[in-house]
Amino acid sequence: MEIIIRDTPESASVVAARIIAKQLRDKPDSILGLATGSTPLPLYRALIAMDLDWGKVTTFNLDEYIGLPREHPQTYHSFMWENLFRHTNVRPESVHIPDGNAADIPRHCSEYEEQIRAAGGIDIQVLGIGTDGHIGFNEPTSSLASRTRIKTLTRQTRADNARFFGSEDEVPKHVITMGIGTIMEARMNLLLAFGENKARAIAEAVEGPVTSFNPASALQMHPVVKVCLDEPAATGLKRADYYRWVDANKPAWQVF
Ligand code: GLP
Repeated sequence: MEIIIRDTPESASVVAARIIAKQLRDKPDSILGLATGSTPLPLYRALIAMDLDWGKVTTFNLDEYIGLPREHPQTYHSFMWENLFRHTNVRPESVHIPDGNAADIPRHCSEYEEQIRAAGGIDIQVLGIGTDGHIGFNEPTSSLASRTRIKTLTRQTRADNARFFGSEDEVPKHVITMGIGTIMEARMNLLLAFGENKARAIAEAVEGPVTSFNPASALQMHPVVKVCLDEPAATGLKRADYYRWVDANKPAWQVF
């Protein structure tokens, strides 16, 4: 894991945006895995400002709520179009987001996996992290080998996400999410976390044991993971000084 610590969410997001921009320049038909929530917003703003060519890019989103009408403002479909896609030249047919209204959810989930495979696999997967260490909507005790499937949200996650809805009761209980096994197949994972309320989840994910109690800790078993943090999200890290030292002493060819 490469831990990149910056003063603010914006400056950490610029690093993440440069990593994605380089990917799109090197391979214009890249396959990007994308995330929602408040965390990737500064990244998406930075990408929009870079005015990249999304004409050949294919995207797969991590997850979606089950049962909300597609045009509901809190679906991840609405989120992605509002906060990223409509500001780019991405082709609508190249955008993939799980369908929370699929009639046959298990079948839809295996088709989603098949679409990722058929596209050639994900080049860079963007991830946020829940306060309980979830990635996508893989709640604690999710199988570390899991694939895209239905999940039931924890009370904590519903409480955390209530701020986007009128009340906690309006947050759906069920979701479709890529599995941890799916995420682990991305060629690079780019995890972003900001704010002190993420410090514990990040410390456990980066320096704790690999455990389904903190699903993000599975990323320790992935060969290419970059973790972009602001200072408050890094406060639980015991080796923060070493990560800063590594970052400050990169060979020139490694600098983003
Ligand atoms: C949500 C999403 C995750 C996201 C996480 C953190 O429930 N499914 O992909 O990373 O929770 O959200 P936020 O970035 O708003 O803190």
